[in-house]
Amino acid sequence: MATTPEEDDEHPVEPARSAEEVRTRHASNREAWNEAAGSYRRRLDQDIAALRAGKSTLRPQERANLGDLRAWCRRAIHLQCASGQDTLSLWLEGAAEVVGIDISDVHIENACRKGEALGAPATWYRCDVLEAPAALDGTADLVYTGGGAINWIQDLDSWARTVGRLLKPGGVLHLLDDHPFLCVFEADDGNLVLRDSSYLDAAVASKGWPASYIPELSGDTHGQSWKYEQQWPISAVVMAVQRAGLILDFLGEHREGYWDIFPGVPKSVLRNLPLTFSLMARKPAAK
Ligand SMILES: C[S@@+](CC[C@H](N)C(=O)[O-])C[C@H]1O[C@@H](n2cnc3c(N)ncnc32)[C@H](O)[C@@H]1O
Repeated sequence: MATTPEEDDEHPVEPARSAEEVRTRHASNREAWNEAAGSYRRRLDQDIAALRAGKSTLRPQERANLGDLRAWCRRAIHLQCASGQDTLSLWLEGAAEVVGIDISDVHIENACRKGEALGAPATWYRCDVLEAPAALDGTADLVYTGGGAINWIQDLDSWARTVGRLLKPGGVLHLLDDHPFLCVFEADDGNLVLRDSSYLDAAVASKGWPASYIPELSGDTHGQSWKYEQQWPISAVVMAVQRAGLILDFLGEHREGYWDIFPGVPKSVLRNLPLTFSLMARKPAAK
């Protein structure tokens, strides 16, 4: 029997058009991420042990962009911090204190447990990034967003304005994420094939997770929550950051990925693509 798009596990949607629609989609993403964060919980002890051993999860490109955090970063605020591994890595790398914000209750519980186990100078907030607490305004030397972040945000201008209000004058936004161009491809039996998806404005509702990321939620999607993703082309990111009053300092496109996004596709093919991009922007210093 044929299915309607809404019955399929993945179907295109229009980009969110109102604040209400943004809130509704983010609320659904909260449920979906609570389900997914269970897999992070299962490796909590292992993750704590790695941090205790001084193993940072920051990627080489992030290190190259950020330089020695000891020299300039008192407070780092990590937006969409998940279970806090990258957040606590920022502390290992030299930030004097770290703040993690995430919409998922389970992720924030995981992050609290890690922070306590390590006695780290870390504070955690469970909330939508767009509702980051006003108490944090103007306090960040660094606002950091790890991989797989901005595609979950349905209103990029509000996101960029939030970044702007959290930063101190002179503070820096750092973003490294999947390259949005990748959304036009999928892996099919070891080949990279074009899918019916627009680089410019693809928005999608889906259930289930990639097997290379959360295997236990990749098969039967029955009972799973809908999740909503929006692809933001590089130009949309740069312009949102600029409209929020930040000054672009760096934009890079990189061969190096950080997860198995196209399982089975040979490295010799992938090395011709920009798997990630990174951006740094600065809040103007106070006059
Ligand atoms: C792919 S994960 C980030 C993974 C992380 N970089 C890591 O290495 O573990 C995306 C995160 O964004 C969070 N998230 C999604 N929408 C959000 C929102 N509107 N506000 C805050 N967090 C959000 C999810 O709960 C999830 O933890």
